[in-house]
Amino acid sequence: MVTGMHLDPEDERILAGEQGETRQKMLALLVALGKVFGAERLVPITSAQVSGASYKTIGKYGLDWLASLDAKAVVPAVLNPIGMPRGRWEEMGIDPGFAEKQQAVVAAYERLGIRLDCTCTPYYLHETRYGDHLAWSESSAVSYANSVLGARTNREGGPSALAAALVGKTPCYGLHLAKNRVPQMVMDVHADTSGWGIAEFGALGFHAGKLVGNRIPYFRGIRPEPDQLKAIGAAMAATGAVALYHVEGTTPEAQKNRYDLSGLEVIPVEQEEISRLFLEIPVDAVAVGCPHCSPAELAEIARLLAGKVVTKPLYVFAAQGVIERNARVVDSIEKSGARVFADTCMVVSPAMEQYRSIMVNSGKALAYVPNMCGGQARIGTIADCIRVATG
Ligand code: F3S
Repeated sequence: MVTGMHLDPEDERILAGEQGETRQKMLALLVALGKVFGAERLVPITSAQVSGASYKTIGKYGLDWLASLDAKAVVPAVLNPIGMPRGRWEEMGIDPGFAEKQQAVVAAYERLGIRLDCTCTPYYLHETRYGDHLAWSESSAVSYANSVLGARTNREGGPSALAAALVGKTPCYGLHLAKNRVPQMVMDVHADTSGWGIAEFGALGFHAGKLVGNRIPYFRGIRPEPDQLKAIGAAMAATGAVALYHVEGTTPEAQKNRYDLSGLEVIPVEQEEISRLFLEIPVDAVAVGCPHCSPAELAEIARLLAGKVVTKPLYVFAAQGVIERNARVVDSIEKSGARVFADTCMVVSPAMEQYRSIMVNSGKALAYVPNMCGGQARIGTIADCIRVATG
């Protein structure tokens, strides 16, 4: 078969339908994608992360399509957050009709061999190494994998990530190639960031994403920790389309390579541009964990909540595996009346649509809550979020 891409004999057999119709269609999808983007071959992947998991976003047509597929993932593959915590959906106030459809989506993915981790932070659960080729689709996870871990993935759509999971390969183009991973512009941050936390770095990402668009930025003037890098990348992928960024002296490829930055556009960022995003508007609820909390974030929330009781709904989101491994910390958070939910988040769950305004500590949630939940969003530090929730 003439495809314009090099395919090995096994690929040819799959395309000929020898491994079933679903795998045949999935490989045909990947080959078509590869041809559009000029890929010369497919590359084996070590894992997939599949979006299109909340019934809120995929609806009946998505569910029908998933239910029509018949194959099993051949690499470790996890699911993105869904519209509810699977074991505690009633507690979150989810409508039973929605829960039934969401459970059908989950069952369809389970039948395809996708792990029901339901998280945008699969890197806390399964090892992802420098140089690994992946097919991940959630934008913050893609940004973290590329930028912080030095793995290689394009930002896949839900169907192409699922196709890659079922075939074990993805077309080798874009960010799978070293030549496409070099900085395309420079962001000079002129601010004293020594006291910054996750919210300030998230706000930086929120601001920077609008300026960067879909280019690869190279940051100077900041030294973020991994959770802070997670916050920058998630927000930049929301207000822009940034799937990879470098931070001087911090991210792995910026440490390994000597990039020639001469001739690149340099955009300055001033403290004032970040500070003015922190507005003091009244809120009905507080939600943290976008992207899903790390163990360190859960510990910080528990420390700030010690001896306090919430007076406003306080939602904390994390992967089920992270919650299980940090059960005592989670118990102490929930003693305050806050709820720590797995599988879902403030953006993809319909339960959050009941609030007129939500306080978050995430630049990504600041960008998405107004569109996806219909309410206003306010960003504050994690300490401010706890103060507002317990005030
Ligand atoms: Fe994750 Fe939901 Fe935020 S999927 S990155 S917690 S919008």
